[in-house]
Amino acid sequence: MGEKLTVTVIKADVGGWVGHSSVHPDLIERAREMLSRREAKDLLLDFYVATVGDDINLIMTHRHGVDSEVIHRLAWDTFTACTEVAKELKLYGAGQDLLADTFSGNVKGMGPGVAEMEFVERPSEPIVIFMADKTEPGAWNWPLFKMFADPFNTVGLVIDPKMHQGFRFEVHDLIEHRRVDFVCPEEMYDLLVFIGAPGRFCIKAVYSRETGEQAAVSTTQRLNLMAGRYIGKDDPALIVRCQSGLPALGEVLEPFANPHLVSGWMRGSHSGPLMPVSYRQATPTRFDGPPRVVALGFQLCDGKLIGPQDLFADPAFDRARELALEVADYMRHLGPFEPHRLHLDEMEYTTLPQVMEKLKDRFTELSE
Ligand code: F6R
Ligand code: MG
Ligand code: MG
Repeated sequence: MGEKLTVTVIKADVGGWVGHSSVHPDLIERAREMLSRREAKDLLLDFYVATVGDDINLIMTHRHGVDSEVIHRLAWDTFTACTEVAKELKLYGAGQDLLADTFSGNVKGMGPGVAEMEFVERPSEPIVIFMADKTEPGAWNWPLFKMFADPFNTVGLVIDPKMHQGFRFEVHDLIEHRRVDFVCPEEMYDLLVFIGAPGRFCIKAVYSRETGEQAAVSTTQRLNLMAGRYIGKDDPALIVRCQSGLPALGEVLEPFANPHLVSGWMRGSHSGPLMPVSYRQATPTRFDGPPRVVALGFQLCDGKLIGPQDLFADPAFDRARELALEVADYMRHLGPFEPHRLHLDEMEYTTLPQVMEKLKDRFTELSE
């Protein structure tokens, strides 16, 4: 068995340009500089700085395993350096996702989102990094279920002997802070009871039942809950390994050909379609959205990130974009009404307590 490799994605919004729509090029430059310094070079095999909307995603490969203090510190220092630039330029919400003043060993619980997975690089190792803006970690539940459990999406589950046993799903309860695993196809209906509620139950990881190997991992922090108040969106990332006993690249991308509704549009308080876009189109501006997702493909070569290939730039996703825009128009018609506006307990902005207080004397009991 070869040496283990870790792919780590750590993401944060440390300032938007303009508003919450994109990342200023000076921040990207600063992040690249930080990850190219001598100290960083000694730690990393390779890196790629990617953005989606107002989020910076640091994609890193290394041999330090998951939850490595040195790697997390490097990401923290990088975001801190980017925050300085954001402050100089008075960018919007500078430093918003860095919830603590000093680093304390692991970025988990400190604001940034983390997805990382350790494995032995196969003779050929295609991976996809999905990154979304204006939505939440549960947004991956639907596509992950399609990729790894739905034979109408992934024909490999039916006709590839290495996939026919199915996959195991690790689900996290973000409210009660618990974990539960399900194997598919046998426990598919039980799994769906939970992941159909993506605001609470999130697929954290997926494993092959044939080999036990990990196939996917997502970010699962809920920033708004961690801070105990609204301070921004917990925009998620997802790493998926493809091919040779795992879903083919095309099976991994296929769920996004049919945009699903996700939470997180405008003020984190609206639902809208998740639009798959090319890297250049990842700047959500209409009503601060609609929510969007980009997919960067890499071939790993001894830990080097060979890529990226901008996977949703394919015109085959044009119809998905058109459908997403139609759905966006339809949802926008509803204005401040549910289900475009989220249910009361899911909204990140609300004036209800103040309005209630103001009108409390006008309420009278109903006689029946
Ligand atoms: C942020 C987001 C935006 C903001 C909105 C209001 O990721 O989704 O829709 O919530 O622009 O922002 P503030 O309250 O900062 O003016
Ligand atoms: Mg923002
Ligand atoms: Mg964002």
